[in-house]
Amino acid sequence: MIQVLTIVGARPQFIKAAPVSQALRSTGLTEAIVHTGQHFDAGMSDVFFAELDIPAPTHNLEVNSLSHGAMTGRMLERLDEVMRAERPSMVLIYGDTNSTVAGALAAAKLHIPVAHVEAGLRSFNRRMPEEINRVVADHLSSLLFCPTKTAVENLAREGITSGVHAVGDVMYDTTIQATERARGRSAILEQIGLSAKSYAVATIHRAENTDDPERFRRVLAFLEAAARERPVVMAVHPRTRKLMDSLGLSPKGVTLVAPLGYLDMTWLVHNAVEVMTDSGGLQKEAYFHRVPCVTLRDETEWVETIHAGWNRLWTQSDYALRRDIDEYGSGRAAMDIAATIAALQERSR
Ligand code: UD1
Repeated sequence: MIQVLTIVGARPQFIKAAPVSQALRSTGLTEAIVHTGQHFDAGMSDVFFAELDIPAPTHNLEVNSLSHGAMTGRMLERLDEVMRAERPSMVLIYGDTNSTVAGALAAAKLHIPVAHVEAGLRSFNRRMPEEINRVVADHLSSLLFCPTKTAVENLAREGITSGVHAVGDVMYDTTIQATERARGRSAILEQIGLSAKSYAVATIHRAENTDDPERFRRVLAFLEAAARERPVVMAVHPRTRKLMDSLGLSPKGVTLVAPLGYLDMTWLVHNAVEVMTDSGGLQKEAYFHRVPCVTLRDETEWVETIHAGWNRLWTQSDYALRRDIDEYGSGRAAMDIAATIAALQERSR
């Protein structure tokens, strides 16, 4: 019987699962990986498995390109079948995507304990699909691995105090490993024709920015203004590409590139002078590389990056006074997660 059934489906989940999968294996736990199929092509999925040494998924559900309801519903149905067949001792979910919430629901209904990595994050904006996914996933989980103190406090405010572990951020673990690998291996600066510390990196993909064409135009105008100061490179997510094509828009002066693999993205951010993004993960990665970030949203879950002056919302004119953040752990979050899961499995034998 499999001890841990890991559910992933979208790019940020591959990045978070990489160090945890490694740690589970080194702790002697057996793991099977289910890929829901939410992100499906080579550039958004395969390259991450290859570059980050993630074991190949044992199940690929191929659910994608549907409305939120249909996507989550189909995943739920398929995950229920997989879980009935595998009977895992625990289901491991990551982050806040439709794959996260489908995994949590399928497991909870089969009385399989759920462990949630990156638990307790809140934007307090229920119009974001991710916020709904986080709240539901956290309330269905029995092990909640929090990346920050704020996340622990958010859970406490919702009455969740048992099974909560402040382990730090697994993305910090991934960033440390990936930066070392990217050094000397990534030729992305040469390929784009950039010199280190001369440019900004941008990404946009959140529904809140891409659902409303007016807002999307304002975000692009923000990037165009930045590109008048220094080169801006934007790695374009498929959803954003579709929207730009359908509206016939392209930000003037901004260099557009296809979605990048993790090592190239890591190297591009490492050598940037600024990041501009609506991605949750990239806001923190910018800090891990000590690159200031402008978040293209009206709120963020990673409030400590704002308080420490490394991040500002695009609605704010300036950064707070800059200092280090002591919340994200020491790069051993994945090992702590594996040890906690192993101890729990030992006790329930
Ligand atoms: C999802 C997550 C978000 C996460 C983001 C990372 C939800 C609700 N949102 O949003 O939390 O930050 O992933 O990227 O789960 N597509 C391709 N090729 C691919 C992958 C996607 O063409 O390999 C297209 C899809 O067909 C779709 C769009 O891109 O049109 C992606 O939409 P969706 O699956 O909703 O995810 P994201 O916007 O990426």
